[in-house]
Amino acid sequence: MLKNITIISNRLPVSPRTTIDGSWELDPSVGGLVSALDPILRQRGGRWLGWSGHHGDMSQDLINKFTEAGCERGYEMVPIPLSSADIEGYYNGFSNRAIWPLFHNLPGQCVFEPQHWKAYQRINRKFASALSEHANDSQEVWVHDYHLMMVARELRNLGRDVALGFFLHIPFPPPQTFAVLPWCKEILTGLMDYDLLGFQTDQDRDNFLECLTLILGSNSLPVQGAVTGSIQPKLLRNSRRDQEKLLANTGTKVGTFPISVDCESIEQLSDSVEVGKLTAHVSEELRGRKMIFGADRLDYTKGLLQRMKAYQCFLREHPELHGKVTFIQFIVPGRETIPEYYCIHQEIERLIGKIAGEFTQPGWVPLHYMYRKLSMQELVGYYRAADVALVTPVKDGMNLIAKEYCAARTDEDGVLILSDFAGAARELYQGAITINPYDEESLTAAIYKACTMDINERRSRMHVLHQIVKEWNVYDWVDAFLDTLSSVRKANKKAA
Ligand code: G6P
Repeated sequence: MLKNITIISNRLPVSPRTTIDGSWELDPSVGGLVSALDPILRQRGGRWLGWSGHHGDMSQDLINKFTEAGCERGYEMVPIPLSSADIEGYYNGFSNRAIWPLFHNLPGQCVFEPQHWKAYQRINRKFASALSEHANDSQEVWVHDYHLMMVARELRNLGRDVALGFFLHIPFPPPQTFAVLPWCKEILTGLMDYDLLGFQTDQDRDNFLECLTLILGSNSLPVQGAVTGSIQPKLLRNSRRDQEKLLANTGTKVGTFPISVDCESIEQLSDSVEVGKLTAHVSEELRGRKMIFGADRLDYTKGLLQRMKAYQCFLREHPELHGKVTFIQFIVPGRETIPEYYCIHQEIERLIGKIAGEFTQPGWVPLHYMYRKLSMQELVGYYRAADVALVTPVKDGMNLIAKEYCAARTDEDGVLILSDFAGAARELYQGAITINPYDEESLTAAIYKACTMDINERRSRMHVLHQIVKEWNVYDWVDAFLDTLSSVRKANKKAA
């Protein structure tokens, strides 16, 4: 029997919305974190704590909605209320205007405000006390993502000795970038209160280890509950298959655990009658044209401007392909109250308008743009219809769209153009066309190559990609992390 777990993340898998009659509805939340973790808790059972997704106290009606949503899924959902001021300082401010751009290696975009840092610590304390109420000492607690890096410190301050794992879904920056953060030392020492720290790629893990040695210096490392003699990156270097090598010493352990997707259920959805109908409908509308596809959450890290410029360039360079290709781009709304997101939204829409104005002809629209959420079924329908998928972030922890596209292609056709700077490129580089999104010429050439690639090459590339995603799915990711957490904990207890 699988052990049930307690998960805590900023966002719950559902977010509230008021209807016209003033009652509450819950919609699925957006993002890689929730799409990866929801199937896990449905399978194992347990508890998921997170922000209610709305401003202020919750009415009983809303609390009941969360309870019902949890029951339907087979696990307990615990919403934590946050005030507008909390959200402004902790979520919009510190998490998304300091940590998010910094960890994506964009220090120029960062806003560092002492008030935001204070709010971040206060809300991490609040999340820790909610955890303290709900988790017992025999259970493992898994904390997720950059919003909650200080939860272990706060929980230990409350005297709780639960097994605590932390997984960072976004990249970890190199020391010269991380050191820009005025509170970099506090964050590093706070992270050392976890038993296990998981990163998406070896590069992220190594960046973290270098920050420890260069910023904290090995002499100033906390002794209790921290890495002891095992700080050398070599000892801690691990592949996904030999996590146990991590366990040679006691203290905080650090490992690489690349997140993945539920390949089997995407394959089943992809082969379903409903998705077949959707794909047929999209293909019919395209009337034999090649379809290039993109689906991204609104974010300046997604490389959307670079992608649109390269497509514009491709259309300029290849008039012979006018009327023969169509680019369908979905952008999923989010974080719009943050000024940087508002600006990038405006800029993207301006550029899309220019491209449409320059190339549209009666009977051919070269770029279809939709600004809305789409269901998994709809998304998989588009994956199946897409001859080319464009995943071109300037920096990304993993990017599950790339993996979902490969999982959905049970027909082993379709070409993936993938940024070198997405974590997914570490695994998918053999089958994808990898590009540097800042290099407009090579991205333009990659679009041309993908649109004109012969069927044999497409099949052999997608065969490789599909196998990679099949071989390491989201359940392998969870098992690897939780098994390692249990062993680290056992070793720590023995050594205590
Ligand atoms: C990324 C982060 C997640 C986050 C998601 C959506 O995937 O790693 O932690 O939930 O974006 O962003 P939002 O700010 O809407 O939660």
